[in-house]
Amino acid sequence: MRGRYLLKQNGVLPETTAAPTCQTCHMPDGDHENRTAWGFLAVRLPLPEDPQWKADQVTILQALGVLDPAGNPTGRLDVVKAGQVARLDQESFDKERNKMVGVCSDCHSENFAKKHLAAGDDMIREADHLLAEAIRVIAGLYQDGILEKPASYTYAFPDLLTFHDAPRVIEQRLFEMHLKHRMRAFQGAFHANPDYTNWYGWSEMLRDLTEIKERAAELREKKAAKQ
Ligand code: HEC
Ligand code: HEC
Repeated sequence: MRGRYLLKQNGVLPETTAAPTCQTCHMPDGDHENRTAWGFLAVRLPLPEDPQWKADQVTILQALGVLDPAGNPTGRLDVVKAGQVARLDQESFDKERNKMVGVCSDCHSENFAKKHLAAGDDMIREADHLLAEAIRVIAGLYQDGILEKPASYTYAFPDLLTFHDAPRVIEQRLFEMHLKHRMRAFQGAFHANPDYTNWYGWSEMLRDLTEIKERAAELREKKAAKQ
């Protein structure tokens, strides 16, 4: 339910979404489980087979604090498990995906539905690549001592779950890129709204990345000038 709230707040979905309604797809047969394959955060286990995407999802899981900067699982993974916010094995993912294909099949061919959902997966992969690059830029600032670890952080690594408590503009931009723009990009794709995906998701992510890179360069210059 938190997902929906944020979705509205962020304007991920336009006010007037044409039929079928949310319930048609998300609560078929009055099923209140309301769980999706990718979930709200669009991370999952097992990691994707594609090597680049896999590396990008590892970076994102590190920034979510589910993996530590060395790549080992942390206590937050247990929170994710308990909260069931992400699918943690292939069977759980497939179960939700098949359920969704079943819903689409009431009105479309199964092939059409599968193709469309695969396009949503592709969008996540592309969005992840941009987000992971931005995370790495900021992680590099911590690594090189340009940014100091905030007291509230467990690691000297960007933490996507601190949300707006982030001490610096460059990280606030990263949170927006993650929670607002990546989300619009992939949810727009799953909801058959390419315009929304492109203009309010993907294009904003490109701008986020450019700004993060520029600010990172400025922070490095400032530090160099002080020495
Ligand atoms: C045509 C079917 C369809 C309709 C209608 C629909 N959705 Fe979705 N929704 C999907 C699909 C497909 C996904 C991605 C599923 C996946 O992860 O594979 C999704 C994902 C989501 C997600 C992100 C994943 C999560 O679990 O949080 C949210 C939030 C969401 N939908 C909310 C809504 C809301 C709110 C409405 C009504 C305004 C709505 N959806 C209408 C099909 C639909
Ligand atoms: C209750 C019937 C219904 C269900 C269920 C449904 N759709 Fe649709 N879908 C439609 C109708 C009707 C249209 C065309 C009218 C429109 O654009 O609103 C449409 C349009 C689409 C389009 C746009 C096609 C185009 O060429 O622009 C896509 C993509 C799509 N649906 C995918 C899905 C997927 C994926 C699911 C399952 C997650 C799904 N639909 C579930 C009725 C449904």
